[in-house]
Amino acid sequence: MTVFFVTGCAGFIGSRVAEMLLERGDEVVGVDNRNDAYDVVLKDWRLDRLQRFSRFRFFETDVADFEALSHVWKTGAAPYAAVYHLAARAGVRYSVTNPWVYLETNCRGTLNLLELCRASGVAKFVFASSSSVYGNVSSSGKSAFSEEMQTDAPCSPYAATKKAAESLAYSYHHLHGLDIAALRFFTVYGPAGRPDMSILRFVHGIYEGKPFRLYGDGTQSRDFTFIDDIARGVVAAAGVSGYKLLNLGGDHPFSVNTLIGMISEMIGKEPIFHRFPSHPADVDSTWADITRAKTLLGWQPVVPLREGLEKTVEWYRQNRDWAKEMKTLSDI
Ligand code: NAD
Ligand code: UGA
Repeated sequence: MTVFFVTGCAGFIGSRVAEMLLERGDEVVGVDNRNDAYDVVLKDWRLDRLQRFSRFRFFETDVADFEALSHVWKTGAAPYAAVYHLAARAGVRYSVTNPWVYLETNCRGTLNLLELCRASGVAKFVFASSSSVYGNVSSSGKSAFSEEMQTDAPCSPYAATKKAAESLAYSYHHLHGLDIAALRFFTVYGPAGRPDMSILRFVHGIYEGKPFRLYGDGTQSRDFTFIDDIARGVVAAAGVSGYKLLNLGGDHPFSVNTLIGMISEMIGKEPIFHRFPSHPADVDSTWADITRAKTLLGWQPVVPLREGLEKTVEWYRQNRDWAKEMKTLSDI
């Protein structure tokens, strides 16, 4: 049986990736430290779904703790067919408040996993980078970001740690021949999504008639990407050879104002929001050029924003009893 090592398996994207691997019959060794960046109730809800599979084994471990991680690595039946490294501190804005936890997990944690791969001959390393590495490369928002574009002006410590992780991974490809897929995801959303991100915050606020924050004038745009599209791309990326940077994005940006309008219409209630100045760590716009992912992975997104939002609102409706109480540490 093929065994995969998935970090961040209690997280939004990691849990869906693990689920897809399990659904197709593979074995998954999953690691997560269940931190309180947002409500652990949601992380446990996702873990419960994975625990239905006997081929899933979970270890509560910090990827930044090399000794503990090495122990899990050995216990979990290495060598693995590939590592899917999704664990990270992921909020853009909270990274301004506490950059240290980002450095620790996103850089040291990534280094630890690369070292374990090198030491035990695991050649396939797929990891989550971010559209945030592009910074404000396209301030007009009119052209899509291609992987060749400049990424040396990150707007947040979070983005800087993702750029650093890409570089670390490159050095392991160069020195030790690891095949690396560094996937730049563009604002991912969907059922069981992160409650610190815009879409779940807006769904919660509009559904419950509670105010939410709107940063800036709402004309900033994102290339929102549905979770199943992303997870499909992540799974496929273990087939990549060499070192490849790959955008995975919806390829159809929407403004935050349009997003709020769509959610409000779907739920049938008016939004109540408090205006805040634009956040200095936020970029103006994102838009993925997905030519490379199409060519190398045969990947393209298939779920349009309206359909993905309907699924997200439906998930919230079905889980509302507990989902409406979710707490977020990074309430910014
Ligand atoms: P998430 O916060 O839901 O998932 C990350 C998981 O990693 C969490 O369950 C968390 O508990 C775990 N984790 C964090 N630090 C850890 C540590 N030190 N040791 C072990 N586990 C740890 O976030 P997500 O949205 O699922 O993001 C997954 C990956 O994709 C991250 O690397 C993120 O930076 C990247 N990414 C996400 C998006 C997005 O829009 N969601 C976009 C671009 C990139
Ligand atoms: C998201 C993820 O949080 C990051 O993990 C990821 O790396 C990044 O996408 C990416 O694409 O690489 P972000 O784009 O900030 O980051 O996602 P949201 O939290 O959904 O914010 C989108 C926009 O909505 C931002 O302009 C933000 O300021 C705005 N927003 C967000 C609000 O106006 N109010 C809120 O309460 C939340």
